[in-house]
Amino acid sequence: MSIIFSGVQPSGTITLGNYLGAMRNFTNYQNEHECYFCIVNQHAITVFQEPNQLRENIRNLAALYLAIGLDPDKVTLFIQSEVPEHVKLGWIMTTLSTIGELERMTQYKDKSQRHGNGDSIPAGLLTYPPLMAADILLYQTDYVPVGDDQKQHIEITRDLAQRFNSRYGEAFKIPAIQTQEVGARIMSLQEPKKKMSKSDDNSLATLYLLDEPEMVLKKIKKAQTDSENKIYYDKELKAGLANLMAIYALITNKSTDEIERQYAGKGYGQFKNDVAEAIIETIRPIQTRYKEFVNSDYLDQVLTAGAAKASQKAAATLNKVEDLMGLSRKF
Ligand code: AMP
Ligand code: TRP
Repeated sequence: MSIIFSGVQPSGTITLGNYLGAMRNFTNYQNEHECYFCIVNQHAITVFQEPNQLRENIRNLAALYLAIGLDPDKVTLFIQSEVPEHVKLGWIMTTLSTIGELERMTQYKDKSQRHGNGDSIPAGLLTYPPLMAADILLYQTDYVPVGDDQKQHIEITRDLAQRFNSRYGEAFKIPAIQTQEVGARIMSLQEPKKKMSKSDDNSLATLYLLDEPEMVLKKIKKAQTDSENKIYYDKELKAGLANLMAIYALITNKSTDEIERQYAGKGYGQFKNDVAEAIIETIRPIQTRYKEFVNSDYLDQVLTAGAAKASQKAAATLNKVEDLMGLSRKF
């Protein structure tokens, strides 16, 4: 039985990219592995979050975790800030990190660019990866299922774990990333060279898991493609169409070759209708379950129990780390 850990930020509403790239896979692990799924609200506040909106996003994300089929009897579902071991180990991981390696993270480079100069770049954007390393390492994680935008963060997590183990003694298992071949990166519907993101300025660029059917249809119909009107997979030259094909492939469990054959001689109009229909049918039951969970007391019970269970496991690792480093009074 392996240990699985992953996290999603409550920094907006969940996108089809989050779902197909990461969250959908979570459910595949729950029957055979020890799973921890976290709502990483302390990562979300590395950029400003309006407090009421944040509270709502945390709850929505928790309800969505249940709605996609995670069973709290099998997995531990919790909120990062309710398990204080995360920031405690996060600080320790920060002290093991160098400014240089943190500045080389592409997510830092992208996000900090939007903030201008050093006087307006939040320091938490820089120290984001050591906190993420802590999230993962606290649970002696074997595999981290994430989209491929997180590759670099998993690599630094492994580096920090190895650095600690060789400097102070064995405290951490070295985790591995788990991504999928197709769909590890779902792209923006409007700028298919850019990843689909929760916070795109263009409201047509992102499909949200809670979008109404008419909205799904509208966004897919308006998705950027090319003018060739012929359906075949070419990620470079036909990035927009390739993205729609990847989405369709993931949802229908067909290969892109099969999709090509299915749509030989047919145009984009028909294909887009079918893609929209497939998405709508996939998210409909999720939306129904989401509505049952989001305002329920049950959701609070799940989160409270999850935090207690996570904390127990996390504390064992943290104690060991503090002993090895000489932070504790234990000789
Ligand atoms: P975030 O919204 O940044 O917290 O991401 C949560 C999870 O979704 C992470 O595993 C990401 O790698 C994954 N993810 C986010 N956006 C995409 C995307 N456009 N395509 C595939 N996976 C994604
Ligand atoms: N950085 C991840 C993202 O933006 C979120 C995250 C935080 C995470 N801690 C994690 C993902 C631990 C996996 C494991 O998507």
